Amino acid sequence: MYEFITYVVLLLSVVCCCHSYSLGPPDTVCESMLPNHNVSVYSAEPAPFSFRLNATEYGPGDVIEVFVKAEGQWFMEGTMIQARTVECQGGVTSVGEFSVQASEDFLKPMKCFKKKASALVHYSHLHIYNRTFFWTAPSEPVGHVFLKATFVRNVKIFWMNVHSPFIFDKSNSTRTGLNKDFTCGADVNRAAMTLLIGITTLVYLLKI
Ligand SMILES: *[C@@H]1O[C@H](CO)[C@@H](O)[C@H](O)[C@H]1NC(C)=O
Ligand SMILES: *[C@@H]1O[C@H](CO)[C@@H](O)[C@H](O)[C@H]1NC(C)=O
Ligand SMILES: *[C@@H]1O[C@H](CO)[C@@H](O)[C@H](O)[C@H]1NC(C)=O
Ligand SMILES: *[C@@H]1O[C@H](CO)[C@@H](O)[C@H](O)[C@H]1NC(C)=O
Repeated sequence: MYEFITYVVLLLSVVCCCHSYSLGPPDTVCESMLPNHNVSVYSAEPAPFSFRLNATEYGPGDVIEVFVKAEGQWFMEGTMIQARTVECQGGVTSVGEFSVQASEDFLKPMKCFKKKASALVHYSHLHIYNRTFFWTAPSEPVGHVFLKATFVRNVKIFWMNVHSPFIFDKSNSTRTGLNKDFTCGADVNRAAMTLLIGITTLVYLLKI
């Protein structure tokens, strides 16, 4: 059994190192959207933040104005916002490009998944009650989209999986039964883990 565990640890470290080396730490954060400090408290839903969009659907290259607002006495000090596809086309990735107003002092676009401005993150620690920013749709339709965000109040209080309303793909009229909670990332990781344990078991059995 100890031998088996050694194999698991060994293979895990190989897989984990290759993974982090090829993707790099920023991409890891891009995928998980976890705050990058050592947080332990994940605050309960519903999150006191909401999105308002000036359009409900997009065509190639359309610019959508987004207003994000905190409710009541809440405010954010940090955030990461991405545009995810409903069908997880292309795996876990963010689509389109974010841009900010010239006067913006809190948000800035960030490169995620090797795509320019595919996320929006904070670069200062202000107390932010609301912000307006822009999302430009990709030049090709990528299916229905929604904004997915993490909002951080402080080191201990943050909210994940805060979603905007859907931004429908104009070229697709199927708009029912859509799911924002489908986590392609988690599924991919689970599949990879199952495969890894399978291979490890095989290696272990063959050795005996
Ligand atoms: C993260 O926090 C935990 C307690 O919540 C602590 O045990 C651990 O040492 C911390 N890790 C780092 C890298 O600060
Ligand atoms: C939404 O706002 C953007 C940027 O301000 C503008 O270019 C676009 O035409 C607006 N869309 C609609 C449907 O009003
Ligand atoms: C946005 O936040 C500012 C404070 O930063 C506040 O004065 C303003 O009323 C807020 N606007 C809306 C529409 O909530
Ligand atoms: C239209 O959108 C639905 C829901 O996301 C999806 O299941 C379907 O595959 C899409 N159709 C096309 C032609 O992309």
